[in-house]
Amino acid sequence: MRVGVLTGGGDCPGLNAVIRAVVRKGVQEYDYDFIGFRDGWRGPLEGVTVPLSVPAVRGILPRGGTILGSSRTNPLKAEHGVRRIRDNLGRYEVDALVTIGGEDTLGVAATLSDEHGIPCVGVPKTIDNDLSATDYTFGFDTAVGIATEAIDRLHTTAESHMRVLVVEVMGRHAGWIALHSGLAGGANVILIPEQRFHTDRVCAWVTSRFRSSYAPIVVVAEGAVPAQGEMVLKDGSKDSFGHVRLSGVGEWLAKEIERRTGKEARATVLGHVQRGGTPSAFDRWLATRFGLHAIDAVHDGDFGKMVALNGTGIVRVPIAEAVARLKTVDPALYAEAGVFFG
Ligand code: F6P
Repeated sequence: MRVGVLTGGGDCPGLNAVIRAVVRKGVQEYDYDFIGFRDGWRGPLEGVTVPLSVPAVRGILPRGGTILGSSRTNPLKAEHGVRRIRDNLGRYEVDALVTIGGEDTLGVAATLSDEHGIPCVGVPKTIDNDLSATDYTFGFDTAVGIATEAIDRLHTTAESHMRVLVVEVMGRHAGWIALHSGLAGGANVILIPEQRFHTDRVCAWVTSRFRSSYAPIVVVAEGAVPAQGEMVLKDGSKDSFGHVRLSGVGEWLAKEIERRTGKEARATVLGHVQRGGTPSAFDRWLATRFGLHAIDAVHDGDFGKMVALNGTGIVRVPIAEAVARLKTVDPALYAEAGVFFG
């Protein structure tokens, strides 16, 4: 039996831990052969491979990124995409695919598995933690740790200058990183994509914070949008999956706060720092368990399924169901954090 492995979408700390666990267990317990596909779905689409073996995965557990490379290639949008993938899997004698990715990569895996009989098992990944059907995705804990450390550092520089510090964190559709890092870092305002924010209210919170001689920290998810629709988007371009890319909310908000409150404000955009570098212990643990269970699913012939964390157990759920809707921040959970605002 030969198993292909690919990593698609934005990279994420813990991807290498999954690859290592899949290969180690697959070789040691099931005597499988492995082949790596380069750059997500581009690999099987264009027939670009890398050797994958136990020696190849040695030492990669603490390494960020992915040894297989990643891309946002969507083969369902390519000419004869499904046929080309099928041909390449045949050419390399691949019997099953372990696909590690977010909603877009896994959405492709669901279609290929369910509608075209190409045997795929899914492993969820995203620093955004917005995949439903799993309590957590690996990469999230690392990203929250990085954002929290940044907020801690920004507190001291904000206080020294008595400025407002606006921190923009990742999260296009969901505010999980903003909410968790904002709470952990003691932010005074947290803004998430799930609820449009009122700039006047943000400014009132900021002003009240200064009244108690404290420099406010505003955490804003990159996908957060003001209620009045007043923000000018610098970049409305779309990625290969058709998602509109928003950018600039952090900078915009800092300028707007300065204009409306008369207080000096600066923006820090954390960007890809949140995705790079070594995974946290939790993410290595979760990624490793996902890998071990994914290869078990291959062994059981349980295709079209994704491994997921449910409490402390790993379960299998249909990929199609898991990607059908995003897991966004519950309004009650967000309201809970509101007690610290202002
Ligand atoms: O989906 C994960 C994510 O990190 C988002 O939060 C962010 O908007 C996006 O990826 C950035 O993607 P790219 O690296 O393609 O710019």
